[in-house]
Amino acid sequence: MKISVVLLLSVFLPVIKGQAFRWGPWGPCPEPAVQSKFTLCRFFGKWYEIEKLPGFFETGKCTEVSYSLRADRTIAVTLKEYPPREGVPYYTEGTAVVQDANQTAKLGVTFTPSNPYRPYWVLSTDYTTSAVLYSCIDILRIFHVEYAWILGRGRSLPEQTVNASKEILLGSNTDVSRMTWTNQEGC
Ligand SMILES: *[C@@H]1O[C@H](CO)[C@@H](O)[C@H](O)[C@H]1NC(C)=O
Ligand SMILES: *[C@@H]1O[C@H](CO)[C@@H](O)[C@H](O)[C@H]1NC(C)=O
Repeated sequence: MKISVVLLLSVFLPVIKGQAFRWGPWGPCPEPAVQSKFTLCRFFGKWYEIEKLPGFFETGKCTEVSYSLRADRTIAVTLKEYPPREGVPYYTEGTAVVQDANQTAKLGVTFTPSNPYRPYWVLSTDYTTSAVLYSCIDILRIFHVEYAWILGRGRSLPEQTVNASKEILLGSNTDVSRMTWTNQEGC
């Protein structure tokens, strides 16, 4: 297994930036089941972030993410969010690719072209209401760091949908109690 300096940096950066972060659970990454028969084109379009496990590139409010197909058949992942208080929105564009032709819900994403793709798995989605995404970085199979997002097609989701999404994440032992709610009010 090859661990690049860039990958390590992307893992340690949250610590350096002093944001909410905790070493992931011990052991290698879990391998949760992903959405079967995933249809990428139905997933495209705009989603709003409802809850997340802290990620260093998302700290603002009114966070939304759009997926679209580029001419080279990679997927543009565009994040838009506002600073926690007031200000102008900022945008981050990343690239996602399907990493496993047999399980097309296993995407990989990078927000810095020189960085390797990291897992960006669609665990579940109905395409029209909600989606559960999961990412995990394995550190020498000793421990792992995980990220998770509950997305909605609207700026809010019914509580029971959020609960059901967390049940899915619990299947991979994700500590859903650490998930934080994204402010989608006054956007
Ligand atoms: C996809 O699945 C088929 C049948 O199970 C298998 O033969 C093939 O090697 C798999 N391809 C990849 C890229 O894993
Ligand atoms: C959602 O989960 C919370 C925490 O476990 C619980 O208190 C609440 O009743 C649940 N809501 C619904 C609608 O199931």
